Amino acid sequence: MVSMTESNQEASPKASQSADGRYPAGGLAFPHRDLTGISHLARHEILYLLDEAEQWLVLNRQRHKHAEVLAGLTIINAFFENSTRTLLSFEIAGKRLGADVVNMHAATSSVKKGETLIDTAMTLNAMRADAIVIRHASSGAVQLIADKVDCPVLNAGDGSHEHPTQALLDALTIRHALGLPRQSDLNGLKVTICGDILHSRVARSNILALTALGAVVNVCAPPALMPAEIEAMGVRPFHDFDAALEGAEVVMMLRLQQERMSGQFIPSPREYRHLYGLTLERFGKLPPNVLVMHPGPMNRGIEIDSQVADHPTRSLITRQVESGVAIRMACLDVLTRRTRAVPGWTEMGSALA
Ligand code: MLT
Repeated sequence: MVSMTESNQEASPKASQSADGRYPAGGLAFPHRDLTGISHLARHEILYLLDEAEQWLVLNRQRHKHAEVLAGLTIINAFFENSTRTLLSFEIAGKRLGADVVNMHAATSSVKKGETLIDTAMTLNAMRADAIVIRHASSGAVQLIADKVDCPVLNAGDGSHEHPTQALLDALTIRHALGLPRQSDLNGLKVTICGDILHSRVARSNILALTALGAVVNVCAPPALMPAEIEAMGVRPFHDFDAALEGAEVVMMLRLQQERMSGQFIPSPREYRHLYGLTLERFGKLPPNVLVMHPGPMNRGIEIDSQVADHPTRSLITRQVESGVAIRMACLDVLTRRTRAVPGWTEMGSALA
């Protein structure tokens, strides 16, 4: 069951409240320079970003989808790993807020010529970007760059570590699908995440965000694709998908991350589908209110059947993409408020985590 939060006032008792009393005032509502992972965020900070995204969901549904909030600022999207939807989503988010957005693709960058990550970071820094969005195949690479540059850094996915904006957009999508207003957490909501949990940054960030918001999370994977001691993250592990689905209200399916596997992790795609796929048959046995999510890209016919992915009312997959732009707009707005000297957001430069 989902309940409304009474307040989001878990910040330091010293923190004063914003005028509406919902969050600590000004920059204390989100006292971080970077967004490198959900693991750094308190529950009320996650809710703050979700609530900030609401206005952009509304703007993005209008014909004129433009705000001048980031006018004059330069955002660099530095993608060292291939991406279509996340890169496009960040690019659209930056442009809708009026920023100058530049995309750097690793395939055409000096990285291919042997430049080190630190040299690339120093180069991006010297270009005086106002925010850098980074995707990298190595876990921890985004933090490495964040430690070397002077502007906010947003993690667009680092190896199998974190993908924080994906988890935020998933939480926002769930909140909307359940008709929950601002400030709502996901207390008691039963979510089952199934797939390649071991290599999935989406699983990791979602586990952190969903449990922080009070959801009860089951994770399901073949033994070889389940991280050791996953229970320490506050979730229940399963190897039997049908058992993991019992009581689920939301099912989140994940792709097999072949590019991060060395060796054979599953016997065959056919067997994987049979045991761990959200097939039409398995979906048909679920109660009619169960919602389905997938971060994309999907392997149709392996982890999810097309009729399930395209279900007109119970699949949230296209709504996830829509929420993604709004969440990224909120993150870019919030993280650049100090640069833009937004009143209330300038005083605490040295206190930033
Ligand atoms: C990711 O970047 O991790 C994607 O959104 C999910 C995937 O690649 O399977």
